[in-house]
Amino acid sequence: MRLSAEFRSQFIQHEMRTHGRKNGFVTTGQEARLMKWLPIIGLPKDKTLAEAGIPTDSPVVMEIGFGNGDFLVHLAEQHADWTLVGVEIYLPGVAKAVCRLDDAGFIERTRITQLPAQFVLEHQVKEEELDGAFINHPDPWPKPRHHKRRIIQKDFATLLVSRIKPGGFIKLATDKPDLAEWMQSILDAMPGLTNVAGVGGFIDRDEDRPETKFEQRGIKEGRISQFLYYIKAS
Ligand SMILES: C[S@@+](CC[C@H](N)C(=O)[O-])C[C@H]1O[C@@H](n2cnc3c(N)ncnc32)[C@H](O)[C@@H]1O
Repeated sequence: MRLSAEFRSQFIQHEMRTHGRKNGFVTTGQEARLMKWLPIIGLPKDKTLAEAGIPTDSPVVMEIGFGNGDFLVHLAEQHADWTLVGVEIYLPGVAKAVCRLDDAGFIERTRITQLPAQFVLEHQVKEEELDGAFINHPDPWPKPRHHKRRIIQKDFATLLVSRIKPGGFIKLATDKPDLAEWMQSILDAMPGLTNVAGVGGFIDRDEDRPETKFEQRGIKEGRISQFLYYIKAS
C-alpha cells in the first residue's frame, strides 16, 4: 500500500465489520486515483457535507453501502443535476467506484467517503440536508445472534430519517425475505415516514433500475429482490 499514514488517517477507517468480505485488494493504479480524487471529492472525518462545496441548487442524494459503485454510476447517468454522496466502508469497493465514476466523467458530481454511514450521518450531515437516500442489498447478517449488526435498526432509522428533508425519500432493496420484513417493520413504524406501497407493502421494481453485483449473485441463486420506498412527511 502506498497510501500514506496521513492520507489514511483522514480518509480511511478499519473498525467496521462487513458481512462475508475477505480482505480486499487495491491496485497501484486505483491507489493513485484515490490519492488524486479523495482530497477533492472525499469527505474526511473532520469535514461536513455543508463544507463540501455542493452547489446550492443541486439535490443531494446518498447511497449507503454502494459496493463497487454500480448504482452510483447509474444514478449519475440518470440525474445530471444531483450531487451523489457515496458511503461505503469496503476500501476496494471505494477504489473501484472512484475509478468508474472518474472514467464515466461523473466524479466531480459525487462526494465519496469510506467512513461508516452511522458516523457520516451523525457527525457530517445536518438535519434535513438530504433529498433522498438509497440502501441497496445491505448486509443480511442472517444468524439471529448477528441481527444487531444489520444496518437498519430503530436508532439508525431515526438518525437517517432526521437527515432527510421533508418530502424526501428513502429507497431500499434486498433479496433476503426476512431482511425485507425486518427493514419494513422498523421503517413502517417510523413517525413521519410513509410507505408508498402502504403499510406492509413493497413497490414494483423501478423500470430503469440496474442489477447490482449483489443482486446478480442472488438472481443466479434463484432469489428475487423486493423494494421499499418511503417518503418523509412535508
Ligand atoms: C451486500 S453489499 C451490497 C453492495 C451494493 N449495494 C450492491 O447492491 O451490490 C453491502 C455493502 O454495504 C457496505 N456496508 C456495510 N455496513 C456499512 C456501513 N455501516 N456504512 C457503509 N457501508 C456499509 C458493505 O461494505 C458492502 O459493500
